[in-house]
Formats: sequence, structure tokens, C-alpha cells
Amino acid sequence: MTVLPSALDPAAPDHRANREAMLAKLADLDAEHAKALAGGGEKYVARHRKRGKLLARERIELLLDPDTPFLELSPLAAWGSEYTVGASLVTGIGVVEGVECLITANDPTVRGGASNPWSLKKALRADDIALANRLPCVSLVESGGADLPSQKEIFIPGGAIFRDLTRLSAAGIPTIAVVFGNSTAGGAYIPGMSDHVIMVKERAKVFLGGPPLVRMATGEESDDESLGGAEMHARTSGLADHFAVDEPDAIRQARRVVARLNHRKAYPDPPLAEQPKYDPEDLLGIVPGDLKAPFDPREVIARIVDASDFDEFKPLYGTSLTTGWASLHGYPVGILANARGVLFSEESQKAAQFIQLANQRDIPLLFLHNTTGYMVGREYEQGGIIKHGAMMINAVSNSRVPHLSVLLGASYGAGHYGMCGRAYDPRFLFAWPSAKSAVMGPQQLAGVLSIVARQSAAAKGQPYDDEGDAALRAMVEQQIESESLPMFLSGRLHDDGVIDPRDTRTVLGLCLSAVHTAPYEGARGGFGVFRM
Ligand code: COA
Repeated sequence: MTVLPSALDPAAPDHRANREAMLAKLADLDAEHAKALAGGGEKYVARHRKRGKLLARERIELLLDPDTPFLELSPLAAWGSEYTVGASLVTGIGVVEGVECLITANDPTVRGGASNPWSLKKALRADDIALANRLPCVSLVESGGADLPSQKEIFIPGGAIFRDLTRLSAAGIPTIAVVFGNSTAGGAYIPGMSDHVIMVKERAKVFLGGPPLVRMATGEESDDESLGGAEMHARTSGLADHFAVDEPDAIRQARRVVARLNHRKAYPDPPLAEQPKYDPEDLLGIVPGDLKAPFDPREVIARIVDASDFDEFKPLYGTSLTTGWASLHGYPVGILANARGVLFSEESQKAAQFIQLANQRDIPLLFLHNTTGYMVGREYEQGGIIKHGAMMINAVSNSRVPHLSVLLGASYGAGHYGMCGRAYDPRFLFAWPSAKSAVMGPQQLAGVLSIVARQSAAAKGQPYDDEGDAALRAMVEQQIESESLPMFLSGRLHDDGVIDPRDTRTVLGLCLSAVHTAPYEGARGGFGVFRM
């Protein structure tokens, strides 16, 4: 074994200051997560309970095997938008009858569980995760359908929800709908397209058009039960496969359906792994408040991988990117971690080679981000930094082993791409509260804008307003800073969640377990042309 040494001193003033700053950010994060948990607020929660109904997360909790974790995804969806944090939908991965499932649950306390543009993005992301990892999907349905005032944003793209359900089914991935309430109009196709359907007596309402619409369209007088009740669908239309007498019964039946799926993971579970040698608590004090100050990612690796055992690849070459092999909860991983912010030609070439090696060996890759991007300047341009960065981006794009990304600190510019940013389809991407991501740093961006404005004024022969420039720079800096923060990015679904650094190993372990439900094979060839 090659146990990583640690130079970390938890008593050092720097470490303590970093820790304090991280704890403050975690407190802010907790406050935002609490908003998602509160759903539509006291009034609507009380009304929902008074109707004898369970809340979305209570339904999930009853569905899951006792004492098993639920990896909630995108809890901050819609943060910073006009919609409620969480986007009226809960999504995540949990274990039902020993089977890892992708679970979604509408939150009927938020605008009747109606889907807004962020709910849609969140639901589509959940579908992608289910498809990539072959996870059975359980939808706990109770929704007012499209959020009507925002229909223009969701009606047309929203068709993908039903498309995805049938594509999952076609791929042999089971889909199960448990209908607790409203599932009307387009929403009727959730049970309509699912492999298995359970409906709750006198609660489920599944029809294309409710009584008022039917009266308008055909003049026919009808009622909810005869148009779309559970009993009607179980006895008459055949849309319901299982008739549940109440909510707990529906959840019990859903568990029985999962138990009978005969869904098998592609790989057996690895043997129990040894814990890291160092305390995960230390992870709170590693990333400096000022991301310009470097930190050694080996200190992070030492606290997340099994037995802190890490075999570094090319440690003396391209030293601002650390690469090497480890295992995490027993799963082999290749790790790429930025050590000193900037990526040079050597780092890029090293990364491309390392990614190819992982593909030859079928080893998943973990990207730990702290990069300000690829190096600029005459020397580096002449040295071929574009070619070499392109090589790394080519390798990341065409790699076929599963990728996981965690934004620890900076994730700027094309460095975000080369390190498998969101657009490069990592199976999962999480951010620490200390992360920041944007096209470049706020000061640099404001500075560039100012230089461009100054040059433009000079070209027109106009005087430049220096006072106005300072105000503009300050304003732009502030805007870019706020748009770079993890809560903002998480709100826009640019990650799968912001996590407590101490949970990193657990979260990645859950992800790796989900990943190993589907078979994968690295790319043996099939990369684009590497410009040498
Ligand atoms: N779009 C936007 N807002 C909606 C909505 C929708 N589809 N469905 C409900 N809401 C809002 C309501 O206006 C209400 O807002 P308010 O409290 O500020 O007045 C809030 O969500 C709760 O709705 P309410 O009707 O009081 O809840 P409920 O639990 O008694 O009934 C529904 C829920 C979904 C059955 C009912 O609201 C409904 O029928 N909505 C319309 C469904 C529809 O036709 N959707 C279009 C399908 S494509």
C-alpha cells in the first residue's frame, strides 16, 4: 500500500479560519435546504395532512428499505428563481427491496405539485441518471401537471418526460408509477407510459380531461371517479395494475413490484473497504476562503479514498495536476485533481494519457476541480497550449468509462471542460460550498470588459469615463461573483447538488454503487484526432 502522508495541522490558524468559513457556508446551505424541505409552507403542508395524505419525503421514506440512505439530487433546483426552492419535485437514489432505484416524488404542497421549467429540468436530469446507470424508476405521482402560467417554457420540451419513460422501458429499465392524487391531462401519460401502475382508492385522478373540460368538449356530465378513479382504472380501463386501499398500501405494493423485478446489477458489490487513515472532519479546513491560494488535493484524496492508499501517476511531470489510482468504497478509480490552479501543456498531455489508461483498464474516473483554466501568454501559446488542452478535452469527451466530478474550489474557463464539467456528461457532478465556476474570475472578467470599453472609446476618439469605469467594474464583479456560487449554479441544475465536504466519500460511494448497476467498457480507440 502507498498510504498518503498528510502535512495538515488542524490547529493551524489557516486551517481554523478555512474551517470557520466553510462552516458558515454550510449554515447558509442548510437554510436553503430547509426551504426545499418546507415545500409549499405551513399552510399547504397542514392542508395536505388534514386530507390524510403523506408528504413527498414521507412517501419516499416509507418506500425505502429501513435504515438505508437516500441520495437526494438537485435539492436546490429553482434556487434564485421565482419558484420555490426544490422545484416542487423530489428526486434521488435509494434502495427498495435491495434494488437501487431512481425515485421521483411530486411535492403537492407546492402549487399543487405543478411542474415549472426547473421541475422539468430536474425530472429530465433524473431520467438521464436512470438511463445511464440502468436504475429502475419509481414515480410517486401527485401533480397539477404543467404550471400553467409558465406553459410556454415547458409544454413543448416537456414531451420528453413521456418519451424518456418509454425509452427507459425499451432499454429494459423498469418504470413504476404510484398515483396518489392528481395525474391529469399530459400527466396521465406518466402512468400511461409506465411498466407498472399502482393507484390509490378514491385519491388517484387519472384522466385526459376532467369533468369541466368534458362538459365543454362534449356536453357529457361526469365525475372524477368515473373518469379517472383508481377503482375504475383497476376494474374497467385496465390502466391500473394494482388497486391500493390507501397510501401505505400503495407503497407496500410498490415495494412488492420492485421485489419481483428480477433487476440485477451488472457487477457484484465490492468487499467492505478500509476507511481513510485521516479524519474527514479535516476536509472542512483544506480549501482556503481565497481560492487564489493553492491547496494540495492529496490532502483531500487522503480523506476520501480507501485506506488513504493512492498510487500517483507521473508525480514529477505536469505537477499542477495530480493523477493516480485508488479505490473508493472498494471500487477502483482513477483520480485527476488540480494541484495548483493552472493547467499547462504538460498537465494536459498527462491528463490525456491518464484518461486513455483508465479506458484501457475499465476504471471509472474522478475529477476533483480546482482550476483557473489553461495557461495564457505568448510562451504558452507558442508552446501549443491550445493543442494540448484540446487533447485533454478530446480524451474527456470520448472516454467511455463512468466519470464523477466534484468541484472543490475554482472551476473556471475551459478548465471546467477539461476536468469533465457538466456539459461533458459526468454520471454525477457535485460541488462543495467553497466552489466557484464561471467563464473566468469576476475580477478578470470585469477587467477584460473595462479594457475592451477603453479601447473602444479610444478607437472612436472619445474620452474614457474613469469614474464610470470603476463603478461598472464593481457592478460586474459583484454580478459574476454571485453567478459563480454553488447555490446559484445548483439552482440552475448545473450540478446534482452542493454537498458537505465531510460527506464526499459517502456521496461518491453511493454514486459508484449506482454506476455499477450498468455495464461499462472503456474506449479502446474511438477518440477523435489527437493534435500532437
Ligand atoms: N399551474 C399553476 N398553478 C397551479 C396549478 C397549475 N397547474 N395547479 C394548482 N396550482 C396552484 C393553485 O392556483 C393554488 O394556488 P393558490 O394557493 O395561490 O391559490 C395552489 O397551486 C394550490 O392549488 P389548489 O387547487 O388549492 O390545490 P388542491 O390540492 O386542492 O388541488 C389540483 C390541486 C392540481 C387538483 C388543482 O389545483 C388543479 O386541478 N389544478 C389544475 C390542473 C390542470 O388542469 N393542469 C393542467 C394539466 S396540463
